Amino acid sequence: MTVTSTRGNGMAFPEDLRDWQHELRVQFPIITAHPELAYLDSAATAQKPQAVLDAVHTYLTTSNANAGRGTYTWANRTTELVERTRDRVKEFLSDPAPERSGVHFTSGTTEGLRTIARDWLTSYLTDGDEIVVPVADHEANIAPWLETQRLLAAQGTHVRVLRMPYQAGSHDYDHVALAQLAGPRTRFVAATHVHHVYGGNMNVHRIRQAVGPDAVICLDAAQSVGHLPVSTADLDVDFVVFSGHKALALPGTGAVWARQARGPALAPGGWNGTPNTTGIVSLGTALDWLQAAGIDRIERWTTALAARLTDGLRHLDPYEILGCELSLAAGSPVQQRQGIVTFRHRDIASGDLGFILFSHGFMVRSDNHCQGSAGEKTGSVRVSLHVYNTPEEIDRLVAVLASLR
Ligand SMILES: Cc1ncc(COP(=O)(O)O)c(C=O)c1O
Repeated sequence: MTVTSTRGNGMAFPEDLRDWQHELRVQFPIITAHPELAYLDSAATAQKPQAVLDAVHTYLTTSNANAGRGTYTWANRTTELVERTRDRVKEFLSDPAPERSGVHFTSGTTEGLRTIARDWLTSYLTDGDEIVVPVADHEANIAPWLETQRLLAAQGTHVRVLRMPYQAGSHDYDHVALAQLAGPRTRFVAATHVHHVYGGNMNVHRIRQAVGPDAVICLDAAQSVGHLPVSTADLDVDFVVFSGHKALALPGTGAVWARQARGPALAPGGWNGTPNTTGIVSLGTALDWLQAAGIDRIERWTTALAARLTDGLRHLDPYEILGCELSLAAGSPVQQRQGIVTFRHRDIASGDLGFILFSHGFMVRSDNHCQGSAGEKTGSVRVSLHVYNTPEEIDRLVAVLASLR
């Protein structure tokens, strides 16, 4: 039986997950070492559980070598660990045909998207093709595509950029408008799974129907991998790009998953040099850890914390919450916030609010969050959550915010 407690707006808090969460929280040394602080910036980068730290230590003290080169034990072991992580990424993304997909390791989502633009998209597009760019999403998912357009134009290949349409109220993509916009020359669509400012799930599974079977869909999953199930089969996308460091792995980690059914494969780009073996080991372990913890539970926990914060904030007059206002009452997946809540104070600039909150022990992100030019025009404060955060932290934060009236 699911035990829940309800708050003012009827949202239920998953009380049945309290013990589960406590057992996981204590596995994060940096969190338990600082009970006076609350880390609320996991959308920027996440903290690391002991298992990840141990895996890195074990690797460096037992088998550190280069991958894919030597024939001695340490080198073989390193190669094996890299290949195992590749398989792990495919499995984690519910890849229905792992023998026909590839995984390329990067330093994060930005490098992953750039790699696709530079190493694949430039040779895939031809004169007169169209690409859809999500102009109100993260800059990392806009700049590479515009750069590709410029690069190709300089070589005489003219590609049209179509601006991804958004729904005014929910900030979800407008899939109906997208279907009208997309035509036979629309060959590439860039999209984001979870919006890094509004926290909404962008209902990416509807894109395929809107753009047809042949367009390549590239998904920025920076804010979804490690937070909710990301299934390449269900979403019917061709590229999934994510940051390992936001999914509990070491800084400087990320991956591109590429389905090779449409167009040329994302070639490894020839000689890539020495891979970030330590980071890759940490990524494999982080994915194991997340899987064992249960992605569904992590999603329930972080969305419930986001709902608790939104619920607390919506009654405080000086605050404006960005994103869908109706979200909590309706409770539909579009309108849930996936562990990200962004807001403004009417009279306090977001940078100042960030400083004030830190003086109370809360680490949040302030200002414009690298949103593209079609995004918010004034700064805001973003609270982003992971499995180590607690309802008590949220309640303390709401109390401090209430005192700033
Ligand atoms: C949606 C989204 N895309 C891309 C990025 C960039 O990720 P990274 O810093 O790992 O390159 C972020 C992180 O801030 C993000 O939230």
